[in-house]
Amino acid sequence: MRDVPATPDTIPARAGGALRFLDLAPARDGLRADVLAGLRARPRSIPPKYFYDAEGARLFERICRLPEYYLTRTEYALLQARLPEIAAVAGRVDCVIEPGAGGCGKVRLLIEALRPARVYALDIASAHLAQAAQALARDHPGLEVSAVGLDFVHGLEALAPHLPAAGRRLVFYPGSSIGNFTPEEAVALLGRFHTLAGPDGGLLVGVDLKKDPERLHRAYNDAQGVTAAFNLNLLARLNRELGADFAPGAFRHYAYYNPVEGRIEMHLVSLAAQTVHVAGEHFEFAAGESLHTENSYKYRPEEFVRLAAAAGWRPAGQWLDAEGGFALQYYAAGSGVG
Ligand code: AVJ
Repeated sequence: MRDVPATPDTIPARAGGALRFLDLAPARDGLRADVLAGLRARPRSIPPKYFYDAEGARLFERICRLPEYYLTRTEYALLQARLPEIAAVAGRVDCVIEPGAGGCGKVRLLIEALRPARVYALDIASAHLAQAAQALARDHPGLEVSAVGLDFVHGLEALAPHLPAAGRRLVFYPGSSIGNFTPEEAVALLGRFHTLAGPDGGLLVGVDLKKDPERLHRAYNDAQGVTAAFNLNLLARLNRELGADFAPGAFRHYAYYNPVEGRIEMHLVSLAAQTVHVAGEHFEFAAGESLHTENSYKYRPEEFVRLAAAAGWRPAGQWLDAEGGFALQYYAAGSGVG
């Protein structure tokens, strides 16, 4: 018993659930090689997973609260409203695995509803993740939380040996993060989730839907310029971590919806002819030349069902918000009746 009020600092970790850290494939390993390859290529590009250094993770959390960025709040409300139905379709779940867990906000809702024994929160930004996982464990006595620093695009296989062999697994992939991949890459990633989930596993995925292109445009061109800062932070990160000499003021954030490809494209466009040095190499940018930093694909619900089916997933539940702007879809791994 305590006779003084507890502050978060004074609560011992063991007052909550168990917490452990696994560092399986640090993100920085690929940064240098991926960036150099992307700068040598035409058109130039850098994979969007490199947005998420500590500053990038913070800026992304701010994006999620922007009035124009409807995705996060729409999905959160949808999840909250439909939890009982989702739990009924998912059935008993022992282990929730969330690739790209970030701040762990959404998985909290799932934990309340599904009461799993274990949560594996995977993220490439491992410092940010560690904090969030610690808070998650503190708030859920009896829950075993594993914070896994992992590049799940390439390193997912490294996780399997750390999972308990028994118990049903649910892969939770919210936020329309799947939109960062081309449809072909998305099928491959969903296939790896399928292997990870196992024959009696499930997948709950959030998908941003095709809609009024002006609304999509605004979501990636916010009035406060937070998305621009998020995009430009990539150059600041390369300056910090690779000793590059990008002048962030010499590049413009440029994002637009491409309705033919069904995707938002984010670019950093060079405002002048300039030479940039990165890790001992130099790169010439022409005035107006683009560095492509992100795709964010949008789907129709049935389009995404086809993608998931190509990866072996059987559709078993779908929930849309009232405006039909965002979908949560549940899939079962097995081909039998659920
Ligand atoms: C985290 C990939 C879902 O594409 O909407 C937000 C990232 N980029 N604003 C998205 C992002 C610019 C976000 N995802």
